[in-house]
Amino acid sequence: MGVTLSKGKKTEIGTGPNSTNIFTINNHEKLDLEKERSCLRHDIVRVIFNGNFSSPIYDLLKSGAKVLDIGCGQGTWICEMSSDFPNSEFVGTEIVDKIIPHMKPLNVSVVKANVLEGLPFQDNQFDFVNIRNLLYDFTESQWENLVIPECIRVLKNGGWIEVSDAELKVENCGKESFRVINKMLKFLESKNVNPFIVYRLEEFMNSKEKLQRFEHISRPFQLGVWNNALQDPCARYSKDTFDVLAKFADPKSNIDAVTRTCMKECTINRSYFNVHRFYGQKL
Ligand SMILES: C[S@@+](CC[C@H](N)C(=O)[O-])C[C@H]1O[C@@H](n2cnc3c(N)ncnc32)[C@H](O)[C@@H]1O
Repeated sequence: MGVTLSKGKKTEIGTGPNSTNIFTINNHEKLDLEKERSCLRHDIVRVIFNGNFSSPIYDLLKSGAKVLDIGCGQGTWICEMSSDFPNSEFVGTEIVDKIIPHMKPLNVSVVKANVLEGLPFQDNQFDFVNIRNLLYDFTESQWENLVIPECIRVLKNGGWIEVSDAELKVENCGKESFRVINKMLKFLESKNVNPFIVYRLEEFMNSKEKLQRFEHISRPFQLGVWNNALQDPCARYSKDTFDVLAKFADPKSNIDAVTRTCMKECTINRSYFNVHRFYGQKL
């Protein structure tokens, strides 16, 4: 049994000027790798959560809602959502203008904006605000005092906010995998980014204004080669990710050998990390 993944979709991981993202693109080879990794992650996460969002807004989106996607990158999520919900209007914001897609569906627009400087929208505009895979782009203080308050400000009363990302802690982690992952965690800490911020997100989301019907759900994302329906895409994603991590940990090492060891460890140990979704409704 296999899993159907979207074909031909291209996503680019961009990075803000102060980005702590070690997957930053700085050459064409990396760009292709990041497009592939990002597209795979999008597809896998949609499968493991059984959808592109978890907030209870399906009927609202079907009838027509206004949706904001902060840090939309090249727009994989927003474009897929726009074809699933043609009556809704989708607005993305992105700090790096060169990755803003030129060709967009009619119900999609993208605005260049740095969320840390405030979003260029009036209060109470959107029915749904989505912010995905930006957890490690901001410090704890930025999340609590700038990013979350901005998301809530532009939400209508009764609108939903959803924050989602992967946790950087790998369960059943082998020795070599731990070594390369730990280099990334130390790097984030050196940039004042908490690699375990996911454990504080619920508190930050409710610190200024309490959200109602708040939910937190998480799902395992498998690493290595597991014998199940997600075997192929997850194995590809794991390998590509370990290549980047191994290179980052020690550029002079034999990257292929390090990746092979990590993949073997993850396969034998059944290693995984959790992907989280936090969502709630503005009162
Ligand atoms: C890892 S990518 C995620 C893209 C998309 N949300 C997804 O899930 O595929 C993070 C994106 O956030 C953007 N970004 C980083 N800092 C930002 C900021 N301060 N304001 C707006 N966008 C930002 C980056 O340029 C990048 O495109």
